[in-house]
Amino acid sequence: MTGKFVTFEGGDGAGKSTQIRRLAAALAATGRKVTQTREPGGTPTAEAIRGLILSGVAKSMGAEGEAVLFAAARADHIDNVIKPALDRGEWVLCDRFADSTAVYQGVAGGAEEGLLRALDRVAVGSTRPDLTVMLDVPAEIGLERARRRQGSDDADRFEGEELWVQEKRRQAFLDIAAREPERCVVIDATQSEDEVAHAVWKAVSSRLFSEVVA
Ligand code: TYD
Repeated sequence: MTGKFVTFEGGDGAGKSTQIRRLAAALAATGRKVTQTREPGGTPTAEAIRGLILSGVAKSMGAEGEAVLFAAARADHIDNVIKPALDRGEWVLCDRFADSTAVYQGVAGGAEEGLLRALDRVAVGSTRPDLTVMLDVPAEIGLERARRRQGSDDADRFEGEELWVQEKRRQAFLDIAAREPERCVVIDATQSEDEVAHAVWKAVSSRLFSEVVA
């Protein structure tokens, strides 16, 4: 018996964490066992790497150096959390996964494609998502939401250029979804929280439940 692996992707302020929490609760209510996790992170080692990357210490290594760190964290996460949970037949819901590397370090960061492919092959191997939920919001709306969440102190983190980069990332996620429609579903995350949760549930139940759901 193997479980189901669902990843959530999207830019800032798309509402990933809220929607993962809601999906986890809805799945648990049907009696399914759920493991909720995130990247970078999910294990003590990967959380340490997360601290290193998000603090900005590794920024000077460039997109390729950061990609190596993300890959190391991902390999540890898969080996110690994701794969064991799937092997136990559980549902694994992960906040960001390999598509984030392709988009942030690849398309937006300019890391060399061959390197990213090699890292992906080694770190991820055959543990691929059954479904990837792409929560899509225009960059401007996402940044505005993120700014409100963070408070005005951090507002200078989101400058004009950031908006442009954010829009590029958004397009890169949409391109992945267009290339892999059998794995990905794009959901308009400008809708209300309830509407998005409903769309997520519809995608999950229609694509991944083996029994027929009304
Ligand atoms: P986080 O605070 O979890 O952001 P968010 O709420 O937007 O998910 O920080 C994770 C950051 O790391 C986020 O900006 C995206 C970035 N990231 C990458 O650049 N590459 C990756 O492979 C992953 C998993 C995340």
